[in-house]
Amino acid sequence: MKKNIIFLGPPGSGKGTQSQRLSSFLGYPPPLVMGDILREAVKNKTPYGLKAKSFMERGELVPDGIIVEIIREKIFEPVYENGFILDGFPRTIRQAESLDKMLKEKNLDGSLLVVKIDLGEEEIIRRLTGRRVCSACGANYHIQFNRPKREGICDACGGKLIQRTDDMEETVRNRLKVYKELTEPLVDYYRKRGVLKEVNGTGEMDEVFKRILKAIQE
Ligand code: AP5
Repeated sequence: MKKNIIFLGPPGSGKGTQSQRLSSFLGYPPPLVMGDILREAVKNKTPYGLKAKSFMERGELVPDGIIVEIIREKIFEPVYENGFILDGFPRTIRQAESLDKMLKEKNLDGSLLVVKIDLGEEEIIRRLTGRRVCSACGANYHIQFNRPKREGICDACGGKLIQRTDDMEETVRNRLKVYKELTEPLVDYYRKRGVLKEVNGTGEMDEVFKRILKAIQE
């Protein structure tokens, strides 16, 4: 039985980049990325999307009730029955407690491993304000560190690259504030349970990936 893995860390620390790599490397299904699920809901104007939109644009967290309902529908899909990777959930103590309850119902308590990526604030601002995403397939680029072959065009699907509205500097700073206040307490929550692995997120993507592999194999 594979572990269920949570990626934790401030916005822009590399959770999306690294969770994607880890899932391919270890043969997990693609990560459940809460931000992507919400952006898709906003794009399709679903009831959840309509409620989530303004919170996301301001860099605030979407209310716990909505998030927990979404995740409950997702994590018990058959594709995840041999293990899942979560990116962007949980982000509050209440969300973490809800996840614990869900796992307990399925006798999966004890299956968790939490990878926390650490990164300093100035590097976060640099990474997020330079990030570009494909408007068609969601692939991730950076104007300096991870450039597409043709400027403004996605290598994978030829879609147009855009900047996320919440990647403007002012909103990024608010996301960091919200992270410190509401999400950082999860570090202690999981540390006390002995399931936390902390990884330095500075340096090349390959270097960070190697650190993650080493940490989870320990
Ligand atoms: P979400 O989309 O999850 O945003 P986030 O957590 O702020 O994370 P990011 O996607 O911005 O960053 P990341 O850590 O994945 O970094 P990445 O790998 O892309 O959430 C958005 C919003 O949705 C939230 O603000 C909230 O409103 C709502 N939401 C989501 N989940 C919620 C929840 N559970 N509860 C309530 N609300 C919720 O990397 C960033 C950039 O750096 C990229 O350009 C990448 O190419 C580059 N990069 C990565 N690694 C490196 C490296 N080693 N060196 C150089 N560049 C690098």
